[in-house]
Amino acid sequence: MNILLTGATGNLGTQITNQAINERVHNFSIGIRNINKVPHAWRSSLEINKMDYFNKDSMVKAFKNKDLIIFIPSIIHPSFKRLPEVENLIEAAEEAHVSHVMFIGYYADQNNNPFHMSPYFGYAERRLAISDLNYTYVRMAMYMDPLVDYLPELQQMGKLIYPVGNGKINYISRKDIAKGIISIIQSPKNLGKRYLLSGYSYTMTELAEILSHVANSEIKYEPISLEAFGNMYDEPKGFGPLLASMYKAGEMGLLNQDSNDFEILTGKKPETFESYLINNYKDA
Ligand SMILES: NC(=O)c1ccc[n+]([C@@H]2O[C@H](COP(=O)([O-])OP(=O)(O)OC[C@H]3O[C@@H](n4cnc5c(N)ncnc54)[C@H](OP(=O)(O)O)[C@@H]3O)[C@@H](O)[C@H]2O)c1
Repeated sequence: MNILLTGATGNLGTQITNQAINERVHNFSIGIRNINKVPHAWRSSLEINKMDYFNKDSMVKAFKNKDLIIFIPSIIHPSFKRLPEVENLIEAAEEAHVSHVMFIGYYADQNNNPFHMSPYFGYAERRLAISDLNYTYVRMAMYMDPLVDYLPELQQMGKLIYPVGNGKINYISRKDIAKGIISIIQSPKNLGKRYLLSGYSYTMTELAEILSHVANSEIKYEPISLEAFGNMYDEPKGFGPLLASMYKAGEMGLLNQDSNDFEILTGKKPETFESYLINNYKDA
């Protein structure tokens, strides 16, 4: 099976590509827009295809002779600006006679989810459903990883301010998401299904306790309003309200989603938030 991963130079794509190389996944290639971002170590071990989500012809060319495309969306917002990526992905895959697409989605996608990107994920899954393609739809939970860089700021404030109230949020590391995806492609019987790659759910009080322990200083949970949070992190412009809309989903209980898909696929438990932070914070 000839496999092509898009978005390989991004945060998640890098984890998947490194694991694919380490696990010696056969016929694994990448489709990227900026060759200069490809690490030297990959250049001798991978076929590299240049393509852009906003240029369908470049995607058709990159997808030729590929059986499986693993698609990582960009981080463009709002939703409607990202939609052409889905159209181009599906049309290019059909034109290049790709047999299977794996779409990497996000779990904030329920029909009542206020997350501003939820319409995009809803569209993507339904657009795949009306296509001629076979597909696997992977929904991932919230990344743990950004908390490593955020922890010094939290330590300085002495508080965790996410506007989530008593809601729980499920977190997983990018490394574990990549492990789940590698396990799916290593066995063809895993294809054609819908997955939730999740870790563990935490209240923000529980998360604040974990952060206090790892940072060795008290961090209390003191939520601020959605509006104040959006204004505080509005860089680039428009990102603050987007982020706040995600935490609103958390407050509504919509990010408290668990599944045992990771364990079934990999035979292992996902890493806990505490273990992840202990292992990564000391190196940061
Ligand atoms: N689970 C979570 O908590 C969480 C958090 C944030 C985002 N996400 C989702 O996870 C996905 C990936 O996240 P990430 O952290 O890996 O993001 P990222 O680091 O920004 O990676 C995105 C990748 O897409 C590529 N890309 C962007 N626009 C492209 C275009 N027009 N043509 C071709 N390639 C393009 C980027 O290429 P360049 O390297 O050239 O920029 C990069 O390789 C996104 O879809 C996002 O919605 C999830």
